[in-house]
Amino acid sequence: MSESLYERLGGTEGVTKIANDLVDNHMVNKAIAPRFADSDVAALKKSAATFFIAGTGGPNDYTGKDLLTAHKGMNISATEFIAVLDDALDALEKNGVGQREQEEVLFAFYSMRSQVVRV
Ligand code: HEM
Repeated sequence: MSESLYERLGGTEGVTKIANDLVDNHMVNKAIAPRFADSDVAALKKSAATFFIAGTGGPNDYTGKDLLTAHKGMNISATEFIAVLDDALDALEKNGVGQREQEEVLFAFYSMRSQVVRV
């Protein structure tokens, strides 16, 4: 497995599409949509894409907060966390991502749980 996850997801174009779909999914997911009611969707998509690109082995242009700081004080529940993973899986499937890559992305997100839930 020599190609990075970023490359296997289709580089900047592929990862950006997945990130955009992920944010769109959040906006209609009743379990979490209220959290994003006041969000600047374009800015959130940009943050999601650059975070995802950097985290999968692409260029690091992420200028947002670290995950703990970004979610501190929000009192995010385990159920909300799973809702985000559900949205990620839907975005991966919509973009025709293979099972191996889906597993890698979900594992990476899951491993961030302690920086997001009840922090
Ligand atoms: C592995 C899971 C998650 C990852 C990787 C993640 C990632 C991010 C990133 C990169 C940002 C942008 C920070 C910035 O621009 O400075 C952000 C913001 C945010 N996240 Fe998460 N997040 C996760 C889970 C969650 C969950 C479960 C919730 C609650 C439903 C949530 C709610 C929010 C909210 C409300 C914001 C601020 C949006 C805004 O500024 O408009 N996140 N997250």
